[in-house]
Amino acid sequence: MQLSFLDAIDPKVTAVKRCAELRRLLEYHNRQYYVLDAPEITDAEYDALFRELQALEKLYPELISAESPTQRVGGAALDRFMAVTHRLPMLSLENATNELEIRDFDLRVKKNLGVSSEDRISYICEPKMDGLAVELVYVDGVLQVASTRGDGTTGEDVTENIRTVRSLPLRLTGDHIPHLLEVRGEVFLSLEAFHRINVEKEENGEPLFANPRNAAAGSLRQLDSRITARRPLSIYCYAPGMCEGADFPSQQDFFAAIAAWGLPVNPLVTPAAGVEAAVAFYADMQGKRESLPYEIDGTVIKIDSFALQRELGEKSRSPRWAVACKFPPRQAVTVIEDVLLSVGRTGVITPVASLRPVQISGVTVSRATLHNWDEIALKDIRIGDTVVVERAGDVIPAVVRVLLDKRTGTEQSLLPPEKCPQCGSDVVRIADEVALRCMGLACPPQIRESIIHFASRNAMDIEGLGEKFVEQLHTLGLVRSVADIYRLTRADFDRFDRMGDKLASNLLAAIENSKQRDLWRFIFALGIRHVGERTAKALAQAFGSLENLRRATFDELISIRDIGATVAQSIVTFFSNQGNCEIIQRMLLAGVAPVIELKKVGGRFTGKTFVFTGALVRFTRDEAQRMVEAEGGAAVGSVSRKTNFVVAGGDAGSKLNRARDLGVTVLTEDEFVAMLEQAG
Ligand code: IVH
Repeated sequence: MQLSFLDAIDPKVTAVKRCAELRRLLEYHNRQYYVLDAPEITDAEYDALFRELQALEKLYPELISAESPTQRVGGAALDRFMAVTHRLPMLSLENATNELEIRDFDLRVKKNLGVSSEDRISYICEPKMDGLAVELVYVDGVLQVASTRGDGTTGEDVTENIRTVRSLPLRLTGDHIPHLLEVRGEVFLSLEAFHRINVEKEENGEPLFANPRNAAAGSLRQLDSRITARRPLSIYCYAPGMCEGADFPSQQDFFAAIAAWGLPVNPLVTPAAGVEAAVAFYADMQGKRESLPYEIDGTVIKIDSFALQRELGEKSRSPRWAVACKFPPRQAVTVIEDVLLSVGRTGVITPVASLRPVQISGVTVSRATLHNWDEIALKDIRIGDTVVVERAGDVIPAVVRVLLDKRTGTEQSLLPPEKCPQCGSDVVRIADEVALRCMGLACPPQIRESIIHFASRNAMDIEGLGEKFVEQLHTLGLVRSVADIYRLTRADFDRFDRMGDKLASNLLAAIENSKQRDLWRFIFALGIRHVGERTAKALAQAFGSLENLRRATFDELISIRDIGATVAQSIVTFFSNQGNCEIIQRMLLAGVAPVIELKKVGGRFTGKTFVFTGALVRFTRDEAQRMVEAEGGAAVGSVSRKTNFVVAGGDAGSKLNRARDLGVTVLTEDEFVAMLEQAG
């Protein structure tokens, strides 16, 4: 940026210009990152620009404007949402549930247009996002209002929350920006974000979201936009509302224009020359459904030409020029035969429905979580009830509702237990939590679960020490706490019939190897309440050693980014427990020595993400992850458009397919090693 001599004299003028420049830069890099998946600067560089803008705005608060990227992070909580009346009603769509009904739609269209049934209509096919519809109003390119669909006529003003959606520009960029642009789109959460939110909720003893749609709705309808800001909502735009100063001849032109202005459009949108291509798209998407990083519940077919759309017009609630082609529901009706109580690692007692087995889109479901007793009471769930069960993505099936008209009067109500079903200890309900917890320190399933957690892949990654084996070791009294894992000897395994020499020595080697895991893994493996993987990583980075963490005070802990009072208190409580410290001490004496690998700043892979999939032969997944991290990159679990490389071993499945669909670079193990060698 060029400053004139006079500008340089007046710091305020300089600040005004720099603010404008910073906002432009931040929005540009936001779009490169969130919409185009082509980041040009590192996160640290982005943060530095962001902080510079924050500092300037703090110095000159009068420069803060609603479209500043600093205003995305959420402001003061509201009492309620204001009503917003849509200038044009937000319609819904008629449904088709199979290929036959799609062809019927096409015939209806042709009849209404008065063209021959042999003609081919140009359609646009889109995934039907399973989220919630919103309307965005841009005036002279600046986002003014965002509202939910509501009843189609009037929705709620969720502007503050929509501002937190990172992929959405607060100001449009490019040429010929119309005076008024209303755009409709679907707000949704990726499956990954949904899982993460639920893991956090579980750790906090809060009720879980049943599916990503509910989670997105719950996040968007937060009165406190700071909570929304922590939920990585996404959006794809798919329809115009009222526009002044722009004219789009077709849906394709509309998509091209809004994409050029910076609005996110689903890259899977496909033109179809005729109904058969639209049917093929529906079949294709059904195949891809399980490997997409978000939920779709069907496809939408629209006539491409807006002139033809106008000619066909609307019925009372839905247009004649579009149809929603729904996939078969992932729901089924079955009977609750029993309710079992499962005791988790943290003592939480979860009611689980044992179901009469039922098929849901190819999978036999015989268990469903009932979450907690509040849910049971709310849904009035009883043993013997006929219920609707839902399976969403790869989420544990859940009971959606009871079919009350199927009641016979013989159903049995459920009462929360007063004693732990496993150890008989008292059960308590901690204030603000919906969960019931067994308070018994020696509760066998809790200990067992904590050992399984310790050895699990995301924690200490001890291969071979799975659920079944831990259960046996625990029952035989060979492993009573995690520290006992490091006392196991070859002789202990003689008690297992099918334990050959090779298996035993592999297991002992895996245990030995685990002694030098990353510090964050060890912290996570300890199973401290509220300390998930992310928190464990933050703690490892902040304290650098287990000893420092053990001695950390409450105040030191809460001064760390992302660590609040609940987490800090839980860590202090954990380390003030004599028994816990003894177990840790025993592990350290046995040679457990967690390591901390400092990330190489400016390493070859800085800002790059990798996904490893399939059977790897040259290194374990864990080793690969460490190699990537040592070069400043990140290894993640699922493939998204943001993934830079997928390293595929033998028999790679859905992740490899997804990488190919999304055009992510796929490497063999050898190619990855070659890249590493170049890096070194
Ligand atoms: S177009 C008049 N396109 O489905 C046309 N809707 O059943 C209005 N939806 O309320 C909608 N993905 O919430 C359209 N690509 C897509 C969509 C989509 C999801 C939702 C939307 C709408 C509902 C209609």
